[in-house]
Amino acid sequence: MIPKETIQQIIEAARIEEVVGDFVHLKKRGANLLGLCPFHNEKTPSFTVSPAKGIYKCFGCGAAGSSVKFIMEHEHKSYPEALRYVANKYQIEVQEEEQTPEQIAHYNEREALLQISDFAGKYFANQLWETEKGKSIGLSYLTERGISTQMIKKFQLGYSPDEWTAFTDYAIKNAHDIKLLEKTGLTILKENGKKFDRFKGRIMFPIHSLTGQIIGFGGRTLSNDKKQAKYLNSPESQLYHKSKILYGISHARQEMVRQDNCFLVEGYTDVISLFDAGVQNVVASSGTALTTDQIKLIKRFTPNITILYDGDFAGIKAGLRGIDMILSEGMNVKVVLFPDGEDPDSYARSHRSSEVQEYITQQAQDFIRFKTGLLSEEAEKDPIKRAGLIKEIVQTIAVIPDPITRQVYVKECATLLDMPEQTLLNELNKKLRNKFTESYKTQIAAPQPIAPPQTNYTTEEDQLRDKLSYQEENIARLLLEFGSKNFNYINNDGQANEFNVAAVIIDQIEMDHLSIENPIYKTIYDEFADAVEKEEFKSLAYFINHPKEEVSKFCVEVMSQVYELSPNWLERKQIRVKSEEDKLQMSVMNSILSYKLSVLEKGIKQLRVELKTADDNNMMEILSRIGKKENQKKLLSKELGRTILR
Ligand code: CTP
Ligand code: MN
Repeated sequence: MIPKETIQQIIEAARIEEVVGDFVHLKKRGANLLGLCPFHNEKTPSFTVSPAKGIYKCFGCGAAGSSVKFIMEHEHKSYPEALRYVANKYQIEVQEEEQTPEQIAHYNEREALLQISDFAGKYFANQLWETEKGKSIGLSYLTERGISTQMIKKFQLGYSPDEWTAFTDYAIKNAHDIKLLEKTGLTILKENGKKFDRFKGRIMFPIHSLTGQIIGFGGRTLSNDKKQAKYLNSPESQLYHKSKILYGISHARQEMVRQDNCFLVEGYTDVISLFDAGVQNVVASSGTALTTDQIKLIKRFTPNITILYDGDFAGIKAGLRGIDMILSEGMNVKVVLFPDGEDPDSYARSHRSSEVQEYITQQAQDFIRFKTGLLSEEAEKDPIKRAGLIKEIVQTIAVIPDPITRQVYVKECATLLDMPEQTLLNELNKKLRNKFTESYKTQIAAPQPIAPPQTNYTTEEDQLRDKLSYQEENIARLLLEFGSKNFNYINNDGQANEFNVAAVIIDQIEMDHLSIENPIYKTIYDEFADAVEKEEFKSLAYFINHPKEEVSKFCVEVMSQVYELSPNWLERKQIRVKSEEDKLQMSVMNSILSYKLSVLEKGIKQLRVELKTADDNNMMEILSRIGKKENQKKLLSKELGRTILR
């Protein structure tokens, strides 16, 4: 647990434009900043950041919140993790409060594994740059392969000595726990207690998380021995899930957003060489067949993927599989094949940067051209093979979720293969029908929710509740926006006194012993009641980071709207308002009176319902209560009219 005071300190220190600016390219627009929303795909920016209010808000997809919320959403972190991230950014020391032993164990283990990985990364890099063997074996290998010093540093490449326990011994000497070393996979522990380095004698490629922490390694052998695996990778651990991460993502993410495209390659060296050739929006699935999680990871930054694979059989097969997966995520895919026997790495090494960039832009083709291109000219004339190809392509079009995109591809396919669109559409619809029947079958197997019975009575009740809830919301808004603001309040005796808005609102509500029903607005109300009592108001930052999520959400919503003080009725009645303060006085009074009116109306409605089932005794009593309330209502309405005209 992070202590409350520290949380407060973190929240106050966070500059929203800096926190968001690390991930989104922001441009100044008046008092705010504007950028492309990282939470949905867009071409024109609708993502705004307000440094004054400390919030972000996307007018396209509605994403909104504080600095901490941004880190939670964008980096998929939990609340405490996000707080720690921001604390770290602003060098705020976080001293944890007491935790349960399990919490400590789990958290500590992850932290310890991260520490070991970081420690190992530094060790391997140091071996590469500072030791004789590292330089003569590791560094010279990398240099001979044409990997520049700059890239070796950027990707933190390293060398693991060709000795059984060099790393493990060094780690133990530095007080790292053998059990944890084993969990990272850096050390292999045999049943007989013998231990040795997994990556002995290999070139080390650290694998980074989205935020750039080392979470695993790939190690390339330096020997030509075919019996040795060319690459060894870290095993799955609490840190490293190979199906969920992409090699190079922490370096590529910004450029992916900027270019609105992601190049996807197979290997570590492909990423590094392309990066060196100026193509920075590149990641690798490294050694695993592309997974849906990896595609979704890319989707957070761009909806466009260009697959760059070898032109050999394996490359083509992997490409075909990738296409269907990417399309069914609703993303766009292009394919670039390299000449047989070449991969992006070898191509980049034997060509100039400009040539590499030119090649990938010119060769990129959509999946229909790619699939069509796979058939040799001869096969194209073979009607049976041709029919097979058409079925194949239609099958792929059918996985696209968006009907308009499907339509576009059907058109292209018809033109390219010179056949009637209708034929393709018929085939496509057949495929879609099959898909639909399958999903329908699974649907009826699931239990259906029972709809609540609908009566007029509940609808009417709902309407009243809605009206009241709207008035409560209005009060909460006023408190948030103007609660601590002082204004001259003229009380019933005609005396003017300076009060703050919150004090007046709370006084008015307490006076009639009313209480706010909606839990969100009630929380805000209670916070302000407390503040008035202690004469100390909480900051805006506190509210937009409120511990209750729904409250924080509401506060962000209020802050991100320009709250108009003068309601419509002022304009309708053509009342001229002298100053901001006049407006505030009227707004406050109007809100309170309207709220009280709604409470009364609801009370009257309830009594009328009770009346229907009342016996003779109760009846008189209820009737008199209704009468009283009706009177109050009249008075209130009058007063409301006076406030407006005053
Ligand atoms: N790979 C792996 N294990 C292997 C072989 C390959 O994990 N035994 C992964 C690595 O991430 C590798 C990628 O698959 O980068 C592509 O493999 P390959 O094309 O064989 O290697 P290259 O990246 O071309 O490596 P190099 O250029 O060093 O030969
Ligand atoms: Mn290669």
